[in-house]
Amino acid sequence: MQSLDQIRKRVQDKYEKNGHLDRFTHILGVEKMALYLAGKYHVDPVKAQIAALMHDYYKYEPEEELMRLIDPADAEECRKFPVLLHSYASAEAYLEMIGHDEDIYQAIRNHVFGRLQMSKLEEIILIADYTEEGRTYPSCIECRKILLEGKLYQAIYRSTLFTIEFLEKKHLIPHPLQYAVLEYYRNKEEEQ
Ligand SMILES: [Fe+2]
Ligand SMILES: [Fe+2]
Repeated sequence: MQSLDQIRKRVQDKYEKNGHLDRFTHILGVEKMALYLAGKYHVDPVKAQIAALMHDYYKYEPEEELMRLIDPADAEECRKFPVLLHSYASAEAYLEMIGHDEDIYQAIRNHVFGRLQMSKLEEIILIADYTEEGRTYPSCIECRKILLEGKLYQAIYRSTLFTIEFLEKKHLIPHPLQYAVLEYYRNKEEEQ
């Protein structure tokens, strides 16, 4: 079992080599937010840190390279929504390099759009990615504020809504899962 320090160092080395240290800074921000949320929502902090550290392990590799790393069953979906390539490939990197915890695997895999009936760990990684302290878009700042007020479901709902609106404005087609997640958290937010 690798320690958190070893995993962090490995990710840092990778991003130092490829010249994208800003991505490593983002990853550290996600780790920090995920650790805070793990404490608040009774999630295993080590699992939250591992998922955060590995969530963007792959990010800048060419599409063909990432295509070779993912499960062939996911290839068609990734061709339609290439942003998923990096999360699916990073989840495979976790299995290959770190361990076989299903919850960590799913949290990395689903950190882009989320999915229905996510575990608390998945929810934490999804929203930590959007609200970590290095995110300076007004929509991220607004979601961070909502999240830090203790409204986790509302933060997920708003971040999903902002992302869908952003894509629609650019005439890009959102993933069907984004609409499903939006609806799901709209209802959960009302329950909260
Ligand atoms: Fe990502
Ligand atoms: Fe990220």
